Amino acid sequence: MKTEKFLFDGENNKIALKAVAKILKNDGIVAIPTETVYGLAASAYSDSAIKKVFTAKGRPQDNPLIVHISNMDMLYLIAAEVPSNALLLAEKYWPGPLTMVLKKTDKIAESVSAGLSTVAVRMPSHIIAKSIIEYSGIPLAAPSANISGKPSTTTAEHVLNDLDGKVDGIVLADESAVGVESTVVDLSVTPPRLLRPGAVTPEQLLEVLPDLVIDKAVLSELKSGEKAASPGMKYKHYSPETELFLVEGTTEQFEDYVNQKTNAVAIGFIEDTGVTIPFISYGSKEDESTLAHNIFNVLREIDKNKFSAAYVHAPSKNGIGLAVYNRLIRAAAFKVIRL
Ligand code: TXA
Ligand code: MG
Repeated sequence: MKTEKFLFDGENNKIALKAVAKILKNDGIVAIPTETVYGLAASAYSDSAIKKVFTAKGRPQDNPLIVHISNMDMLYLIAAEVPSNALLLAEKYWPGPLTMVLKKTDKIAESVSAGLSTVAVRMPSHIIAKSIIEYSGIPLAAPSANISGKPSTTTAEHVLNDLDGKVDGIVLADESAVGVESTVVDLSVTPPRLLRPGAVTPEQLLEVLPDLVIDKAVLSELKSGEKAASPGMKYKHYSPETELFLVEGTTEQFEDYVNQKTNAVAIGFIEDTGVTIPFISYGSKEDESTLAHNIFNVLREIDKNKFSAAYVHAPSKNGIGLAVYNRLIRAAAFKVIRL
């Protein structure tokens, strides 16, 4: 398939916007930038468009998609019940990196929710994403724009690597600002439940949702036979080709541990200056937002060399650090080394 490339660079904005909206209205699929990660967008009303998304990503059929909206009217089209805590959260954090799971209407295609009675909804703040949704006038289902199982895409180059030739269009834009996917909170249950941590932190959610529960899948592996509240959390995820280990410990412990390894790469903090094996920094241990911004790029970078293993220095679980930790523990298939 020939993938059309689109640039939104001022002069071309209107032309690109029209062309992308046309593809989406005709049940095509287009990778678009958002403030969290790139998404692979399709009309949430079209079963055939959604099937194309699953095929292009190689995504398991039972993993539902997030629907992206650009105004509150669209919310009421797709959500059957909008509880008051959802409205409070929307007021505080939309548009932005927060997804809410709500009871769904029958407007959206069955395959979006993979058979569940709920729908996950988010209003992105990225100017291009917003204008594409607004202009096409359709809520857009969009999972992260990566091949299923691989690290999410945060640059146009990542998207081209994964999806060129597999999708109708790719919008080539800047690096994603946040770098990890949205926070997912389930408001269709009582008490509300954090299913996936992101840039809107548990501390921030607790201000609106004092009885918030953190799903145990956020930090641990589901036992076989256990049912996932968020189907996406049960799969091995975000994984580079290089075998990854998550290492918890101080700067000194991390340095001593990785320096004994051969044919390995260390992913650590700028503070880990004593590492003598090949090393990539993903930011300062004090600055979780930068760690989030860089993590998926670093996970893709290490595959450019043939190392037999990669050791990542685990971030703190504070603020957005919890989201980074959550992605890394999955990327490492739950192999954690505690020093
Ligand atoms: O930041 C993001 O959320 C990005 C950008 C593109 O918006 N999208 C994204 O989509 O991360 P995806 O498909 O990679 O992750 C969606 C997550 C999965 O873990 C999925 O299981 C969960 O949301 N999810 C979707 N619908 C759900 C539902 N009805 N109930 C529970 N979990 C749901
Ligand atoms: Mg994803």
